[in-house]
Amino acid sequence: MELYSVALQVPHHISIHGGLHPSRVITVSGTVPENAQRFHINLCTERDIAFHFNPRFDQNSVVCNTQIQGIWGTEERKLPVNMPFRRGQSFTVAITCEADHYSVSVDDQHLLDYTHRLPELQTIVHLEMGGDFELSKVSV
Ligand code: GAL
Repeated sequence: MELYSVALQVPHHISIHGGLHPSRVITVSGTVPENAQRFHINLCTERDIAFHFNPRFDQNSVVCNTQIQGIWGTEERKLPVNMPFRRGQSFTVAITCEADHYSVSVDDQHLLDYTHRLPELQTIVHLEMGGDFELSKVSV
């Protein structure tokens, strides 16, 4: 595990050395500003976005998707009833890579599973974060 805990700039990129594999956990801690619209945490290959995790405060939902060769697939959304993020609050997102899906928890509460659409896990070698949040800690 590699731990980064200084005040980090957003957008931010970290290489995932060795790529993903089942049981590997990515954690991202940060704070949502009062005026936030959206932010994202992306797990990427050299070409594609395998997993786009996208809390949207303008729609009070969390959107997940995959982008292959520049084209977005079908969105998977969490309805507002399960929206775990709040403007003005800090959070920790933990994304556990399992054999056939990502399991995402927020502040130790399970939020969603997302079945792999790019299952060659070792090719997922980049963690990219951007949008409206303050990033305080990352581990890959
Ligand atoms: C688009 C948006 C992208 C991404 C995508 C996910 O509408 O512009 O940033 O979130 O949805 O499906």
